[in-house]
Amino acid sequence: MRIIIAALLVLPLLAAAETFPKADPAAGRKLADAAKCAKCHSARFGGDGSAMYTRPDHRVKTAGQLLAQVRMCNTQLNTGWFPEEEEQVAAYLNRDYYKFK
Ligand code: HEC
Repeated sequence: MRIIIAALLVLPLLAAAETFPKADPAAGRKLADAAKCAKCHSARFGGDGSAMYTRPDHRVKTAGQLLAQVRMCNTQLNTGWFPEEEEQVAAYLNRDYYKFK
């Protein structure tokens, strides 16, 4: 019984160790490149558009907000991504820019 309780306590910690644990960031990167996400962002900030994610006052502060923002921008683009694909893109942006735990 003690072991089960210990496992129940530890499992959520393990799950929290990696944000978007089931999503493949490499696949997300391909999706984001193909969808030309950066085009719109670089029109506003110049360069490759990644300043959108790294600007000091960037809006996204949590993993949940990141996923929500990917969804919002994705809807504007009308790429027709599935929710799993949105998670892959969020995982890619998190790995390379946001680094939420
Ligand atoms: C139609 C133009 C447009 C396209 C296309 C677009 N975005 Fe955006 N995106 C914006 C704008 C504008 C903002 C800034 C919103 C703000 O500051 O209020 C933004 C902000 C973001 C942010 C949050 C940045 C922050 O402040 O932390 C993320 C993440 C993001 N976009 C992801 C994506 C992804 C992924 C795609 C491709 C599916 C995409 N965007 C395509 C216009 C666009």
